[in-house]
Amino acid sequence: TVGNSTNIFWQESSIGKTERQQLLNQKGSVVWITGLSGSGKSTLACSLSRELYTRGKLSYILDGDNLRHGLNKDLGFKAEDRVENIRRVGEVAKLFADAGLICIASLISPYRKDRDACREMMQGASFIEVYMNMSLQLCEARDPKGLYKLARAGKIKGFTGIDDPYESPLNCEIELKEKEGECPSPVAMAEEVISYLEDKG
Ligand code: PPS
Repeated sequence: TVGNSTNIFWQESSIGKTERQQLLNQKGSVVWITGLSGSGKSTLACSLSRELYTRGKLSYILDGDNLRHGLNKDLGFKAEDRVENIRRVGEVAKLFADAGLICIASLISPYRKDRDACREMMQGASFIEVYMNMSLQLCEARDPKGLYKLARAGKIKGFTGIDDPYESPLNCEIELKEKEGECPSPVAMAEEVISYLEDKG
């Protein structure tokens, strides 16, 4: 039995991950960016994807906000919905890594347990957790979508960092911090991630 189903089998594909990776000349992996709304996750994801591209490496961004327009449009922001959101994106990220891509997942992913579960599910693919450690003060001051303002006014309930928890990572691979109240430049952050990826081959 798998999940709720019985009589299902695993079908092997005709081309293996190793062959796909050879074709692309890269290793499939997952870069998981976590942090508060407005901490610069999407900015880093875009910059990283572009920097990888210029180095001949193929990546693909899974952005939480974007996926909520399609795959996850049935989900809201209650705890159980966020859990399912992260689980699904973890599964999709695993498929992209298996396809040989550098999958960049950019979601608040506020609960440590769910991020750890994604790490566990990767079956050998590298999982690089990148923590956008920007203060609530900074994120709120930036408020790119005006959502903190709405949350403070009580017009959005259960907003991460205001009246919903964010659990910071304990053992992330990369921590990006604000300097003198400012987020580092997108290119500087992307380069930090790329040098980590290069070091790990
Ligand atoms: S989660 O917590 O990982 O499931 O969230 P995610 O899928 O990354 O979606 C986060 C974006 O949704 C918008 N938004 C909210 N965020 C947090 N809490 C509440 N209640 C909420 N409602 C809407 C917000 O634009 C988030 O985008 P980012 O890019 O993080 O700012």
